[in-house]
This record gives sequence, C-alpha cells and structure tokens, in this order.
Amino acid sequence: MVSFAILNYYLRIMDAIINQIENYSNEINLFTAVDTDTLEQFRIRFLGVKGIVKAIMGEMKNVPVEQKKSFGQTLNAFKMLAEAKFEAEKERIESLNVVTGFKIDVSLPGMPIPSGSRHPVTLMRNRIVEIFERLSFTVAEGPEIEDDWHNFTALNLDENHPARDMQDTFYLSTDPAILLRTHTSNVQIREMERSKPPIRIICPGRVYRNETISARSHCFFHQVEGLYIDENVSFADLKQTLYFFVKEMFGEDVKVRFRPSYFPFTEPSAEMDISCMLCKGSGCAVCKRTGWLEILGCGMVHPNVLKNCGIDPEKYTGFAFGMGVERPALLKYGITDIRLFSENDVRFLEQFSGV
Ligand code: PHE
Repeated sequence: MVSFAILNYYLRIMDAIINQIENYSNEINLFTAVDTDTLEQFRIRFLGVKGIVKAIMGEMKNVPVEQKKSFGQTLNAFKMLAEAKFEAEKERIESLNVVTGFKIDVSLPGMPIPSGSRHPVTLMRNRIVEIFERLSFTVAEGPEIEDDWHNFTALNLDENHPARDMQDTFYLSTDPAILLRTHTSNVQIREMERSKPPIRIICPGRVYRNETISARSHCFFHQVEGLYIDENVSFADLKQTLYFFVKEMFGEDVKVRFRPSYFPFTEPSAEMDISCMLCKGSGCAVCKRTGWLEILGCGMVHPNVLKNCGIDPEKYTGFAFGMGVERPALLKYGITDIRLFSENDVRFLEQFSGV
C-alpha cells in the first residue's frame, strides 16, 4: 500500500509530465523539416536513444498502479505522434524536387533577404547630379574644412560682409581663418584656379552654418552648386540650363520664375522659384500661400571672381547656381521635419529601400 502523501506526490509529478507532453506535442505539430539535417535533429530529439519519448517512457515505473493504464495510453499516443510526424516529414523531404543538386521545398516561404536603403538626401543628390551630367557637367568635390580665401575672399566677399559673421560661420581658428565651408562655392574657386575654361562642373557636398536647429533648418545641410565658364556664356544659357533641370526634376507642368537678387560673387544675380507642386500654384501652407517655392540662387559670375582665379574676364564669362538638397527631398518624399535626415532612425531610413 502506498501512503496517501506519496500517492499525492506522484499525481503531481504526473500532472507536470502530462503538461510537458502537451508542450512537446505542440512543438511536433508545428515542425517542418527544411532538409535532411533538420529532420535528423528532430529524430534525435524525440525518438533517439536519449530522446524525449524514451525519457518520458522511463517515468512509467513511478506511476501508481491505478493510473498506469491511462498514463500508458497518453504516452503511447505521444510516441505515435512523434513517429508519424517523422515518417511524414521524411517522405515529404525525399519527394522534393531535385534542383541544382539540392533538395528544395519550393512550397516553403522564402528566407527574407534584408535590403539596405540609400539615404533620402543621397537619393535626391544623385537625382540632381544625374540631370546635370546629361548636360555634360562633371562632378567636382572639395574640402569641408576650408580657408578664408576659398570660402569668402576669392568669391568677392569683402572683409565686412555679414556672411563672415561668427554667428553664421563655424570657425575652427581665426588667425589664420580656418572654417567649415558655408557653401560648396569653394569647390568652384579651387576648380577655376586649377584648370582653364571651358569649365562645366557640378559640386555636391555638405555645408555648415551656425543656425538654430528646428524642423525647418539645421546647422549642416547639403548643396549642389554648378558652374559653367566659357567664351560667350550668357544669362540665356543659364536660364535654359535651369529650365531643363526643373522640367526633368519636377515635371513639364511646373512653372519657373526668376527674381532679381544679390550675391557678391554674381552680377546680375537672381533667385529662381518654381510653382508649388502641392497646390499647383493656388497657395498652401508649404508655399506660405504664395504659390511659389524658392529653390535656388544663381547669376553671372562676377568679373572679380574670375580675376581672383586667374581667368580673363574680358575673354570669358560664366554662370553659377546653387541649391539645397534637403528642401526638394522634403517636398518629394512628403517629410515635414528636416531633423529626421540626421537622426539615423532605421524606421525612417528603411522606408527608402527600393526607392
Ligand atoms: N553660394 C550660394 C549659397 O550658398 C548659392 C549660389 C551659388 C548663388 C552660385 C549664386 C550663384 O547660398
């Protein structure tokens, strides 16, 4: 006779075992063999000499006589489940199509290949550059840490020009003045010093300005500037080049307007607006109800700039233009906060894969 306490103990152990059998049964039901290796792992785990089925069978000796029958049935059903699954999977694996020497079950879901994505600013930069490349512009790059001459002086910005102000420019040292470039015009100067006309370059790159960071502005952003110098280059060439760019970039229906402006390095200077593509010119929050979006600055290269770079302004003329990359990227992708571009949140970046 077993005492009541011991009987109770065995019953609790049996409960736990039955619970385990249920969990293992679930696992067996869900199992699909990917190949013969995974099938063999399954066999060893459940049906092997040291497998789960054997181990649970071993518990039989501890089961009180009264429970032996029903426990035995549960165990048997469990064993049969494991064996049946093994046989079924074995058959399925063996019947698979033989493709390139591997047995592949074409009905299994594929393994996802995680794909990277280009940054939206890179996507926009590439689009801009690619359009100008079709007009025979070539990409030129230059340093982000620059001296005063290439960022300011050679560009006809005199010593008292407000753009040099400490509030706008990040100076790394003041004597001699070394700074983070405030535009990619420094590359144009370097190119004019280095080579002879005709010059037809496009200068993409990162620039820095000491501005308060907000949804609309950042202390660093990206620009693409362009420069074309040759004999007889006129404002008409500038307009035609930019018309082409706008049509390619924003579509045939977009309207363009030039407004007179001022830059020390161009004369005459202009700013170019395009009709707002969101409201089609009727006025919305993005274009501040004007129907127009300002996208770039441009003009005919100032004779002093040519002289500063050793190019004869009597013989050569040229045009230059410069635009930000973030603004058109915001518009194109419907993004409302410029800070998203530099936060590197993968949930944001992932959305541009395959774009
Ligand atoms: N360098 C100017 C800027 O950063 C843009 C520009 C380039 C304007 C060339 C005119 C000509 O704002």
